[in-house]
Amino acid sequence: MTKPLDGIRIIDFTHVQAGPACTQLLGFYGADVIKVERPGAGDVTRSQLRDIPGADALYFTMLNGNKRSLTLDTKTPEGKEVLEKMIKVSDVMVENFGPGALDRMGFSWKRIQELNPKMILASVKGFSDGHSYEDLKVYENVAQCAGGAASTTGFWDGPPTVSAAALGDSNTGMHLAIGILTALMQRQKTGKGQKVSCSMQDAVLNLCRVKLRDQQRLDKVGYLEEYPQYPHGSFTDVVPRGGNAGGGGQPGWVLKCKGWETDPNAYIYFTIQGHAWEPITKALGKPEWATDPAYMTAEARQDKIFDIFATIEDWLKDKTKYEAVDILRKFDIPCAPVLSMKELAASPDLRKSGSIVEVDHKVRGKYLTIGSPIKFSDLEIEVKPSPVLGEHTDEVLADLGYSADDIAKLHTAKAV
Ligand code: COA
Repeated sequence: MTKPLDGIRIIDFTHVQAGPACTQLLGFYGADVIKVERPGAGDVTRSQLRDIPGADALYFTMLNGNKRSLTLDTKTPEGKEVLEKMIKVSDVMVENFGPGALDRMGFSWKRIQELNPKMILASVKGFSDGHSYEDLKVYENVAQCAGGAASTTGFWDGPPTVSAAALGDSNTGMHLAIGILTALMQRQKTGKGQKVSCSMQDAVLNLCRVKLRDQQRLDKVGYLEEYPQYPHGSFTDVVPRGGNAGGGGQPGWVLKCKGWETDPNAYIYFTIQGHAWEPITKALGKPEWATDPAYMTAEARQDKIFDIFATIEDWLKDKTKYEAVDILRKFDIPCAPVLSMKELAASPDLRKSGSIVEVDHKVRGKYLTIGSPIKFSDLEIEVKPSPVLGEHTDEVLADLGYSADDIAKLHTAKAV
């Protein structure tokens, strides 16, 4: 079966997480992704946080499936020549080096365009071009702090907190993938390539737009009624951390269930959606709250919201998180159990949907990885294990027209 991105060749000059997450996704959809790595070492994540001696670490294998691996030292003249050849016959080059690294290597955007005017160059950097921090190297948590996530995450009486979700890394990679696909569509119309970039700060900020909404509301009215600080606490002039409060108009909180004393994840997230108030009162055995003016509207409930949550917790104390959700779902109440990674890894639903996939790696054996989070009605996605370092070097060189003798010379020159 042909895949949507069949025939699109991608030079994958990415490392760590932000770039590899992007190119892996494009690999799922059929692009020929050629991961270019330094001979001998490769992507630093191959050896970071290793769990099996001698095998590529999960950090690498879970971000580099559906790719071919080419080792190439692009700082040698022979290596540069190979890269030039690749640029001439490829569609996209994706990179997330530190600022200026590609220019220092001799492959500025100008040079790439000279070699192939149809080329799309896609870059991840910490900050956007021209930003006063554009020279900074950036990792995940740095981006979360710079993009507004950390200042608005956590509890009001604690420090700024980063999220476990890779808002700076994988999220930026997903943004970049949209940019690449858009540039490919535009190229179909214009015949020209272009430079596409996404900064980690911008990608984090894009997910924090409701906090920018809140800053503007705060500037106007001086308080934010959906935050736990309202009406009993106080606000300063910046959006505060709101703990587990719901980010929109529906109050919500993480609530304890049976077993919370020993199980760190025996909780559900409970949302009090306006129209579900009556069903909630029924589920809780408090039908009188449905008609009591002190509880009937969201506005009336706000000053008692933590007492209401305490009542719900009391109702939850003899129910597991799964039992609670099974009852609440019948009342149309938006809620879910807090799931641990162990529970997600074992989830039959996620295996069935292909969201978590088991693949077989030639060195490390079977491991779990995340499949395509996007599902298609007419595309079956085959998730393949990551390549070992240089697994496809000779094959890629042969594709480029190198003879067996030339390939041997490149090996001798340590260019590959
Ligand atoms: N052959 C020869 N040299 C190679 C090479 C190859 N195949 N691949 C990479 N290199 C070189 C680069 O040319 C560069 O050399 P230079 O600094 O002498 O010019 C060097 O290896 C890589 O540098 P850099 O990307 O800055 O690596 P780092 O380990 O110092 O920094 C990051 C890592 C992630 C902090 C940095 O790459 C960065 O800020 N990237 C942009 C933001 C980003 O994506 N961060 C999140 C990562 S999840």
